Amino acid sequence: MPIPELMESESDAPLELTMGAGEWEILPGVRTSTIGFNGPYLGPTVRLRDGQNVPIIYRNNLSEAVAVHGHGLHVPGELDGGPQREIEPGGSWCLELPVRQQACTSWFHPHTHGRTGPQVYHGLAAFIIIDDENSTSLPLPNTYGVDDLPIVVQDRTLDGQGRLVYSGDDAEDGFMGDRVTVNGITDATRAVPAGLVRFRLLNGSNARYYRFRFSDNRVFQKIATEGGFLNEPVPIREIVMLPGERNEIVVDFFDGQPAMLVSGPSLSGAAGSRRNGNRGRRRNDWEPGRLTDAFELLELTVDPTLPAFRGRLPRQLNSISRPVPQSDWPVRRFEMFMPDNDRRRGAQRTNVSMAMGINGRAMDMQVINERVTRHQWERWAVRSLDGNHPFHVHGCSFLLLSQEGRPVSDEDAGWKDTVRVDDRAEFLVRFEHPATDSFPYMYHCHILEHEDRGMMGQFTVT
Ligand code: C2O
Ligand code: CU
Ligand code: CU
Repeated sequence: MPIPELMESESDAPLELTMGAGEWEILPGVRTSTIGFNGPYLGPTVRLRDGQNVPIIYRNNLSEAVAVHGHGLHVPGELDGGPQREIEPGGSWCLELPVRQQACTSWFHPHTHGRTGPQVYHGLAAFIIIDDENSTSLPLPNTYGVDDLPIVVQDRTLDGQGRLVYSGDDAEDGFMGDRVTVNGITDATRAVPAGLVRFRLLNGSNARYYRFRFSDNRVFQKIATEGGFLNEPVPIREIVMLPGERNEIVVDFFDGQPAMLVSGPSLSGAAGSRRNGNRGRRRNDWEPGRLTDAFELLELTVDPTLPAFRGRLPRQLNSISRPVPQSDWPVRRFEMFMPDNDRRRGAQRTNVSMAMGINGRAMDMQVINERVTRHQWERWAVRSLDGNHPFHVHGCSFLLLSQEGRPVSDEDAGWKDTVRVDDRAEFLVRFEHPATDSFPYMYHCHILEHEDRGMMGQFTVT
């Protein structure tokens, strides 16, 4: 398994991220035309620290315009890299990024109007790791590339000539490839030390959902969600992740036993009923994540000569205090819709490129859909009228209140920015940075084909 190179900002020299075309072996021995940041495919891991101001230069050496978004960053709208911020071919975008948030695993990827799906699919995606006082003083595995491993999981389809196949509008549930890659390759293997090992998991797929677990069903500890550490580690055996979501887990390899990271059908009835929690009226047999597909993702072997983290996990990782919702906090409602089910299931699928949207309308660059007050807690209630979707919001982290009417579980009680909505989810959110009419924030479905087809809206924060 390749480990992306680390890129850190220690001096005032800008971090340069150049998008260009290249060739990469997704399948061993097969050269595939791809795109990437500073290389043929994917990109370096950008490591930042709370309190820094980091100059960054994005350059576009591709033949089409690209907007680059920092997913998970708490920065003003004009630095967010939404679709208004397109970089023309041959052009560049220089910014100074103020890093003011707690330690977390984030990522950057294109956000080009109508073109996000194909641009991410062909290779534009990379990690951002943010450190802070807390993360550097906690006793946790943190040797990058040894016991602290970034892992991006993505699905791809290659044709007989080794070319990437992509079609954005052939399926209502978004594009799903037939092979699953880890850090850009299939059949990944990695040697890890005989101690605790931390995985920073990112579902960087366009549309596929995963249920990660280990082949021997070992227990592991979930330590972080998208926006930072959980208050304490939560022991689990499997973890469902939708596109855009990140979670950090710590796995115990003290016993020297190898293990395979897999994705596939549920272990337990409980998780199965969660998957099918949307039975009834309109979901039918449609499940966009194909959570029942089984994949072997990463073969892990233990190398006792590698330096190992042999401590115990701290009992406390963070101190998130959940605000008690007040009756005068604004409530904002969002309803995601798709072309109706009958048409989807019918023999004639002529209208497949028909718009999708939120609150009755498709994304329109000329329309600001919501206006939010800065520093004000709000309650956002998100519903899905058809299917299930990962709902993502820019410029913030939020705290889930409930999903499907059930109170949030310990493992989802941390700061998040992307949430699965089967039927409904509610969260508390507060925006600390401004976003103007010219550079608003986005909220959208993170199935990239849904986003590209209009399941997105814009909002200001003033
Ligand atoms: Cu990961 Cu609006 O995006
Ligand atoms: Cu985002
Ligand atoms: Cu969607």
